[in-house]
Amino acid sequence: MGDWCLSLALNVNVIREDFPLIKDRKIVYLDNAATTQKPIQVINAISNYYMKFNANIHRGLYELSQEASKLYEEAHGVVAKFINAGSWEEVVFTRNATEGINILAQALVNRYLKPGDEVVISIMEHHSNMLPWIRLSETYGVKVKVVGIDSDGLLDYDELSNVLTPRTKVVSITHASNVLGTLNDVRRIAKLGHEVDALVVVDGAQSVPHLPVNVRELDVDFMVFSGHKMLGPTGIGVLWGRKDLLEDLPPVLQGGDMIKYVGIEVKGGVLINHRIIYNDLPWKFEAGTPNIAGGIGLAEAVNYLIRLGMEEVRAHEVELTRYALRRLDETLKDDIKILGPKHPELRSGLISIAFKGINPHVVASLMSTKNIAVRSGYHCAQPLHEYLGVYDGTLRASFYIYNDVDDINAFISSLEEVINVLSK
Ligand code: ALA
Repeated sequence: MGDWCLSLALNVNVIREDFPLIKDRKIVYLDNAATTQKPIQVINAISNYYMKFNANIHRGLYELSQEASKLYEEAHGVVAKFINAGSWEEVVFTRNATEGINILAQALVNRYLKPGDEVVISIMEHHSNMLPWIRLSETYGVKVKVVGIDSDGLLDYDELSNVLTPRTKVVSITHASNVLGTLNDVRRIAKLGHEVDALVVVDGAQSVPHLPVNVRELDVDFMVFSGHKMLGPTGIGVLWGRKDLLEDLPPVLQGGDMIKYVGIEVKGGVLINHRIIYNDLPWKFEAGTPNIAGGIGLAEAVNYLIRLGMEEVRAHEVELTRYALRRLDETLKDDIKILGPKHPELRSGLISIAFKGINPHVVASLMSTKNIAVRSGYHCAQPLHEYLGVYDGTLRASFYIYNDVDDINAFISSLEEVINVLSK
């Protein structure tokens, strides 16, 4: 620790005042890649909605319903501005990033993809950006190509370039790996994908909460992310897409609020004809009563992050990661292997650790007795662990705005202690 001089971009003491759970439980919460804690502002926005504005949206002409509709619509606008979308209509609220990719994969196969067409993903994908495409390979004969990584955990851009062909219709890659921390060069990926006229989809679940993301500057076609990983509630996520593309795609979920007109012709009790006019964006993709409170809570979370500043959030995490990497290297170099890039600037604020002969679940359980919350296992990225030959899984510590040096010190001291005990 000696000569280390750390200057964090965020004032953690002030921020923690907003997080009742962190204050009350005095927990060292380092599982932010799984979900983040919620500030009081988000909790209040949700309860305020239920106490003062609760009504179904787009269905009532009475004032309360109009007010709820307005709040929910405005929430789309807040998110759109946060990622610099072309318009609020490009923001579709889903349950989470997983649902976003599933809806997109299904819509794309219904409109564009034919047997033999190719979808390119990478080995560092979370299951949610792998299984929906594998499903298309099982059911529609779509070919899935998987790009590897180099020894530093960076995407193999040469391989990506080589696997792209005129049959590549979709390139779907994560912005930040939830295991390696690797930050992918999305602009470069988009440029390569567009050179073969493929659509470029980005899993932003681990990037949008942690760094400034500007979908137009990245020049991508679709992006998905989850509200609960960025201070918002669970059960709300985002599928963003370019307006012209979303307008062209068919809806996947069918039901209320996604249509303007439905007419059917029935003869002898059998449907013989129908006419459906879909609703405008984004409602075409939001069938059924949506998570109204969740959308409003997510907008409040976004406003909280905007007040902190996403440049500051990123700088804060880079410094914490730099400190953690150096301390782990000083103290535990011979006992552990850290996955992903060596330089904090090339990675997001998480660190996954592989052990020699020690099960990460045991480590996580022992750390829990010290009130330290970390995740162990495959983190929904089992193929990546197998590719790396890490068959027992890893231990992952992931940082956010309320974490400080004390949290990292507690994590590393506890890790040292556990490794000592388990190595005897
Ligand atoms: N996708 C979340 C994680 O990586 C749950 O932990």
